Amino acid sequence: MSRILLTGKNGQVGFELQRRLARRGQVIAPGRDELDLADPDSIRRTVRKSAPDLIVNAAAYTAVDQAESEPELALAINGVAPGILAEEAKRAGAALIHYSTDYVFDGAKAAPYTEEDEPRPISAYGRSKLAGERAIQVVDVPHLILRTSWVYGARGKNFLLTILRLAKERDALTIVDDQIGAPTWSRALAVATGGILEHLGYGKAAFRDACAANRGIYNLTAAGQTSWHGFAAAILVNAANAQPGKSAFALARAPTLKAITTEQYPLPAQRPRNSVLAQAKVQSAFGLAMPDWKSSLADCMSSGTR
Ligand SMILES: NC(=O)c1ccc[n+]([C@@H]2O[C@H](COP(=O)([O-])OP(=O)(O)OC[C@H]3O[C@@H](n4cnc5c(N)ncnc54)[C@H](OP(=O)(O)O)[C@@H]3O)[C@@H](O)[C@H]2O)c1
Repeated sequence: MSRILLTGKNGQVGFELQRRLARRGQVIAPGRDELDLADPDSIRRTVRKSAPDLIVNAAAYTAVDQAESEPELALAINGVAPGILAEEAKRAGAALIHYSTDYVFDGAKAAPYTEEDEPRPISAYGRSKLAGERAIQVVDVPHLILRTSWVYGARGKNFLLTILRLAKERDALTIVDDQIGAPTWSRALAVATGGILEHLGYGKAAFRDACAANRGIYNLTAAGQTSWHGFAAAILVNAANAQPGKSAFALARAPTLKAITTEQYPLPAQRPRNSVLAQAKVQSAFGLAMPDWKSSLADCMSSGTR
């Protein structure tokens, strides 16, 4: 049975991955107390003890605004640690799957970003994640870097849960309408990662050879695009259709929504105006077609549970 070392098991993506990957191998999922990405020694010690065939790094420093005031910590976790995981994967003869972000781009492009587009991050978080990609790439290790965007799910800190909370507290919500992206359900991302593993095959040699043959960056987001305002509107429609008492996402009454500009909602970190990532490469490499963001959101919210 393959040994898969998973970081970030309590995060949005890590939580879903832990369940999906368990079908494909023995999942070793240390908490931050055992494997602290800010502490290189704890990374080395835990990876060596785990002797993995595959490392899946779903842990990250994800507090985008806070990263502006603690860029060194963000860089240690997002920029330096992935390189150490890559070195340790190489040492163990294992492969590495790592998640990255649309925030490596400045968002100025007028079309979806491809994997060939030059990153130009405009935030400390984006710079730290780009550093992590590069730290992996310089190590000669079989790897896949999966760039995703606008992740939400039934747990954790995310836009879906924030909108539902605010909807209960306020009569009107003002939401930014001039940033576009693809909201991506954490579970859909975990299912897609499982699909990629299915495609790669199992066991140490299969992971290693297939990740070596397919090595590189892949965009992996829901299909389609919307703005934060469009995302909020779809959340409220699904919440209005959910059954009170049966669904944790049901809302007794919906607030009104007003579209505003990025300038009207200043935050410490700049966000890309265009976060849309083209999906052609992952589709042709792994035969993967991600669901449309709207149907994925409906599935998430009709699952009823948080
Ligand atoms: N969220 C998004 O919108 C988004 C968008 C694009 C890309 N991504 C990327 O997708 C991946 C998964 O993100 P997510 O949304 O699932 O993140 P998340 O919900 O914020 O979870 C992050 C996980 O990382 C762990 N972690 C943080 N610092 C750590 C450290 N020093 N040592 C060990 N573990 C640490 C956290 O542990 P604790 O539970 O102990 O805090 C948590 O389990 C990340 O690579 C992220 O950059 C996310």
